[in-house]
Amino acid sequence: MVTNLLRLLFTRSFKPFVFTCRNDRNLNLDVPELGIYVHIPFCTTLCPFCPYNKVQFDKSLAITYKDALLKEIYMAGSLNRNNNKITSVYFGGGSPALMLEELSDILIALKNNFSITSNIAIELHPRDVNEETLLKLKNIGFDMVSLGIQSFQEKCLKVLGRDYINGVEKVKMAAAAGFDTIDVDLIFGMEGQGKDDLKDDFTTAFKSGATQVSTYPFIDFSYADNKSKPLGKRDKKELLEYLAAVSGELQCSRTAVWTFGKKDAPRYSSVTRDNFIGFGSSATTLLKDHFKINTFSVEEYIKCINNEKIPTALTLNFTKRTRALYWLFWNSYTLKLNNGSFKNLFNDELGHLFKFELRLGILMGLIRKTCTGYELTEKGIYKYHLIEQAYTHQYIDKTWRIARQEAWPDKIKLY
Ligand SMILES: C[S@@+](CC[C@H](N)C(=O)[O-])C[C@H]1O[C@@H](n2cnc3c(N)ncnc32)[C@H](O)[C@@H]1O
Ligand code: SF4
Repeated sequence: MVTNLLRLLFTRSFKPFVFTCRNDRNLNLDVPELGIYVHIPFCTTLCPFCPYNKVQFDKSLAITYKDALLKEIYMAGSLNRNNNKITSVYFGGGSPALMLEELSDILIALKNNFSITSNIAIELHPRDVNEETLLKLKNIGFDMVSLGIQSFQEKCLKVLGRDYINGVEKVKMAAAAGFDTIDVDLIFGMEGQGKDDLKDDFTTAFKSGATQVSTYPFIDFSYADNKSKPLGKRDKKELLEYLAAVSGELQCSRTAVWTFGKKDAPRYSSVTRDNFIGFGSSATTLLKDHFKINTFSVEEYIKCINNEKIPTALTLNFTKRTRALYWLFWNSYTLKLNNGSFKNLFNDELGHLFKFELRLGILMGLIRKTCTGYELTEKGIYKYHLIEQAYTHQYIDKTWRIARQEAWPDKIKLY
């Protein structure tokens, strides 16, 4: 309902967003800001709450997967004619550290094909965090880490279906290893979690050495295996408002709707990129005029690459307006809309293309004007939190559910 109304309002069209199958056209990588994402779809145990694309770790499959990744990187590299600078590199999963031995070959392939001067970031399951692994990661070039702690408390981890790990020890270890950014992922809004529990998790993360804390509202995906449901809207609202107050006490600022950070540390943010290219099974790519998703099937991904084909399973072609809308959505997540960045990307004025919507946003008290563009108000931040959850339920859940079931879906319509 919410997504339907917003789609009508912002696209000014009754048409749904439609992903169509495959599309092997060449990628136009000649864009001003290009990020890289590499997906490692392996985990030791599969957490019941987790919606991401992953399979049980298998060493020989991981080695074959690495070979396919290298080929995909070289295939894309051959299209990178102008060798534009890469503005970010993220390794996510899954649990990328399970491929520790293979990561350096993957990074070398990326550096051989792209001009990388940015930070290089990796997501870590706390189970994989130890001094030796952290040192290896640093030595091969990673300088930002994100630890999926979820909660420091045994009772909260139990609700999520995770075994207890001493998270404090892991964050301290990462801090001692001297990464530029240490993000800690927390989930809030699980059954039995009160304000004090969340405050405790949040302050513990910063006190243990985190430079950033990402606090995600617990979402029950339709294909997840959660034993207990997330707290209701009102409880989540209270917790989110409480987090904002606590962050003030800790002298850290809100850097996005669900993230808070220490000043000066580079931000860990893999989704809020203007353009990015994704490598690996289920990795997504966002370019000037389309968004595409690689096949979710690890076997099909490997087969496809070995047949010298691009492993795209689904493509959403943008109009100028829907592409700008994508920008608007993810930039709103970072709380700020910058006129200059918009102009740079779209060769048009933000205030011109979204004149009506921005006026409405100001009238409703959701955004305010700043000297560089617009920023979300407190009310706007809360509404965005609701919209993002609705979008996750309506769009992401549906797309990922189908893509997990079928390696090459025919079409997906999003209303
Ligand atoms: C790709 S995941 C996992 C990273 C890492 N493999 C780990 O488990 O620690 C990134 C983050 O998404 C968040 N997340 C996963 N499932 C979620 C859910 N159902 N609801 C809210 N947040 C979720 C978690 O905080 C998680 O750390
Ligand atoms: S939360 Fe992390 S470890 Fe658990 S299944 Fe998801 S990606 Fe794997």
